[in-house]
Amino acid sequence: MDTQAILSNASIIAEQAGVILRKKFEQPIKHMTKSSDIDIVTEADQEAELFISRELLRLYPEHHLVGEEGGGQGAPIDTATYHWYVDPIDGTTNFASGIPHFCVSLALTDADRKPIVAVIYQPMTDDLYTAIKGEGAKRNGKPIQVTETSKLVQSVVGSGFPYFKHTKPDNNTKQWAEFTKKVRGIRRMGSAALDLAYVAAGRFDGYWEPSLKPWDVLAGVLLVEEAGGKVTDYQGGNRQQWDEKGRFVSSNSHIHQEMLNIIKESYDW
Ligand code: IPD
Ligand code: CA
Ligand code: CA
Repeated sequence: MDTQAILSNASIIAEQAGVILRKKFEQPIKHMTKSSDIDIVTEADQEAELFISRELLRLYPEHHLVGEEGGGQGAPIDTATYHWYVDPIDGTTNFASGIPHFCVSLALTDADRKPIVAVIYQPMTDDLYTAIKGEGAKRNGKPIQVTETSKLVQSVVGSGFPYFKHTKPDNNTKQWAEFTKKVRGIRRMGSAALDLAYVAAGRFDGYWEPSLKPWDVLAGVLLVEEAGGKVTDYQGGNRQQWDEKGRFVSSNSHIHQEMLNIIKESYDW
């Protein structure tokens, strides 16, 4: 398969979705709630996803596609060799509040859900992060790499919180408190896909978060790995965890063990 051609098509589609999002961002933004009062969706999420899934399936009707807002489409999930995971806006809370930090995240995986092609596009900065398995990661066409920071105390890390944070105890507040005391800087930017892209681009030294979905992370995971970094679950393994809690730790690899140690000590297993 021609992964370079797929990457270039997916990049164009993500940039065109970005045009839709920039336009919607300038208008009054209404939102509807989803799983709870804090979990929201806007018309822009729906319109961008409709556009992305229509374009991808027009080019690749033999692929299966999973979109955050639309569920599964395209070829049957059980027989398709390739699968798209689409997050039309990662960072909807930012988008709906007029905060210009959000992105379109597209990942193509094989039948085992291992990412092969990744595209993350940030419309308000016009940054395009891309990766192909085995061929490295790029930002706007230029190779990117993770940092060389070797100590957690010298690191800047990111994280985020699940939408059930106000009702369930497994809400990352304990880990956030522990990390806060042990790093140079800690950020909650509001887009898991961009958090991972930031690790890949050497802006963050590390990032962790529980309760993430495949469309939040698959593109970012490939970016980090292709930029020389590491992504594991909370125990340091790399098994698939989509049916469980989706807990991820990513880093430049040098500070990974220190990050896992904090999680190990503070997490209620
Ligand atoms: C969310 C963002 C956020 C993360 C949440 C995600 P959405 O995705 O990535 O940073 O903390 O866990 O669900 O809802 O904006 O697509
Ligand atoms: Ca998301
Ligand atoms: Ca989303």
